[in-house]
Amino acid sequence: MIATNLKVQDGVLHFAGYDTAKLAKEFGTPLYLMDEARIRYNCKMYQDAMVEFFGPQALTLYASKALSFKHIYEIVRETGLGIDVVSSGEIHTAVQAGFPMEKAFFHGNNKTDADIAYAMDCGVGYFVVDNVEELYAIEHIAERRDHVQKCLLRVTPGIDPHTYDAVATGKVDSKFGVPIETGQAEEFYHYATALPHLQVEGLHCHVGSMVFDEDVFERTAQIMLDFMGQLYHAYGFETKLLDLGGGYGVRYRESEGVVDIPYRISALAEFMKGYSEKLGIPFPAVLLEPGRSIVADAGLTMYTVGSVKRIKGYKNYVSVDGGMTDNPRYALYKAPYTVFAPERMDAPPTLHCDVVGRCCESDDILQPDVWLPELRRGDLLAIATTGAYNYAMASHYNRIPKAPIVMLSEEGAKIAVQRETFDQIIQNDL
Ligand code: LLP
Repeated sequence: MIATNLKVQDGVLHFAGYDTAKLAKEFGTPLYLMDEARIRYNCKMYQDAMVEFFGPQALTLYASKALSFKHIYEIVRETGLGIDVVSSGEIHTAVQAGFPMEKAFFHGNNKTDADIAYAMDCGVGYFVVDNVEELYAIEHIAERRDHVQKCLLRVTPGIDPHTYDAVATGKVDSKFGVPIETGQAEEFYHYATALPHLQVEGLHCHVGSMVFDEDVFERTAQIMLDFMGQLYHAYGFETKLLDLGGGYGVRYRESEGVVDIPYRISALAEFMKGYSEKLGIPFPAVLLEPGRSIVADAGLTMYTVGSVKRIKGYKNYVSVDGGMTDNPRYALYKAPYTVFAPERMDAPPTLHCDVVGRCCESDDILQPDVWLPELRRGDLLAIATTGAYNYAMASHYNRIPKAPIVMLSEEGAKIAVQRETFDQIIQNDL
């Protein structure tokens, strides 16, 4: 099986110890199921490895863009991680969940004045400043509040992480951050440190998502440490916090590899300690901000088949009651997924088909070229590894209500996000 929380019992797919067919019947479809123990395990795995290899100052931030709703912030709080937030909406959700906002890092390449003010009012601990205009906006808003805002400066190390373009963010020409290579990052540092209501605590970078290459983080860290050395030796600036972003890849299909995250963290720490000693700079508190690798394998989406269309001599389509509205990742990135017929796990896969959604759009494909057992209207389908960037990127296209999220734990199956109603869809229409 693609993940250890998936098992087959009497021909039925079980997830997180639960019979998925029963859950689909109880809660309806489409349905997001989340394995709460797996989220906790992933959080702990990261934080334990960070502390073991980087020391007690190290901190993992959960990149909540991957999946944001109130309960997730409670889990993250309980496991001791900080959070990465990118909008006032994520900040609001975290505040409502009682998250300690001094452990929140506010990202984004265009924080509006309203976002900045709201984040300060909510006590967000750190702003990750993306650009020079933003520095001055933060300075003015902090000054009006007589507040000194702790910040990290987001810089671009000029690294190609060998992933798909939509998620590669560390290249020199990225829309995020200020490039080191052109000398602009050093100017950015000068502007920032001249502002009285900003306290520059360190640096941030993020090179991309779905990173599998062994040395991407080492190459990134080397460039960041070189830049830290430049600031330290020229101006005596000590980078207290170094945030290297998120990005470790996850396995969506059996044929793909698995990243051994604790091992990667240990190798990264060893490299960074040696290299910073060589540069003669104080070792910073290191931060990583994973999103996908915390929640992806904790998610499974359930659907009901509506039709099996066989176009003779061409292809077969299996249409389900969800689609790009609950998972736009194939439509956007041609993202691979593993599809199961959860009630027929032992049946031979004789049906070659595209699994498609219900939107009025030809590109509404969840996964093409899938082999499944024979199916008919009313049968269930399940798609694995949907915990990251699915609910988070869900839309109301075709006015389809968003699917609910059910958390599975030893305490039972509990609804964490309710199914949207048609009235909620029209609630802002005047
Ligand atoms: N930190 C920053 C600044 C980021 O921009 C991201 C992701 C992360 C951390 C977390 O990266 P992760 O560990 O999840 O790879 N919608 C795309 C993914 C976009 C990633 C955006 N930034 C997808 O569905 O593949």
